[in-house]
Amino acid sequence: MSRPDGIRHLLGIEGMKAQEIEALLDQGDSYLERYRAGRKIKKVLKNRTQINLFFEESTRTSTSFELAGKRLGANVINMVTSSSSIKKGETLIDTAMTLNAMRPSVLVIRHASSGAAALLSQKVNCAVINAGDGRHEHPTQALLDALTIRRRKGRIAGLTVAICGDILHSRVARSNIHLLNTLGARVRVVAPPTLLPVAVERLGVDVYTDMRSGLEDVDIVMMLRLQTERMRGAFVPSPREYFHFYGLDAEKLAAAKPDALIMHPGPMNRGVEIDTEVADDIDRSAIREQVETGVAVRMACLDSVCSHLQAEEDE
Ligand code: NCD
Repeated sequence: MSRPDGIRHLLGIEGMKAQEIEALLDQGDSYLERYRAGRKIKKVLKNRTQINLFFEESTRTSTSFELAGKRLGANVINMVTSSSSIKKGETLIDTAMTLNAMRPSVLVIRHASSGAAALLSQKVNCAVINAGDGRHEHPTQALLDALTIRRRKGRIAGLTVAICGDILHSRVARSNIHLLNTLGARVRVVAPPTLLPVAVERLGVDVYTDMRSGLEDVDIVMMLRLQTERMRGAFVPSPREYFHFYGLDAEKLAAAKPDALIMHPGPMNRGVEIDTEVADDIDRSAIREQVETGVAVRMACLDSVCSHLQAEEDE
């Protein structure tokens, strides 16, 4: 049962129940519709403070969390780690305790270490939302991807989704694998052997190292960036060779279903993992739509953790 009083924290998709995920998707969908129609949005985060604590670079995730909070009436504070005490060597926990003393309602955190969001949630009183922790999870990305798919295809159960590229370093891949499996999709991962985690099949995926066979008859093609900032050493011979074998272009895409949807969490490296023509194909690419859906889904997540807090405060 999804709790009417929302979720305490959003740390990862692993372990979430289908109904909890669907409740967030439904709420995100309704925020998206209301916003598009120019209808009034209830300021459910009025008098609440949301602190965005980004220890890693971000464009769309941090902007959309800020917008989402503001659309719901929150006071939003963005901590830029390059100009804060973190630069002076303060630890994550000390920073968190300082912020906690200011009594925010929500901390949105992005950090290079897997497990950072979970650790933080044990130390603070407020709700914690994981905006990406190392290679571990990026739950709001998986939720926005799922909502984009559901809106375009009308369902998730029964679809075949190929997640292609740098699976090894990708928190987006991990969160999506958990979510799509929980909602009944069939998940494939397609990557060179060097970019696949050990025993990845244990996550419940079919593994392909050849793009054309991996894309055969799929409904969704989800492309990932080569996350060179997480690589020590060379994982691919050269970007050019990588594109030749694993870059999505019209020819490789022809193996997928004719109405297959193209997705990418961004930032895209055109000419490395995806060809410009395919990325900009207005009929088949959902990449822009993913960004719009991201704001709505993050509104749903903020709403959910704050209604949980409200229920606790009302006790
Ligand atoms: C992703 C991330 O940060 O994990 N980007 C994002 O949130 N839009 C994927 C990436 O960086 O490649």
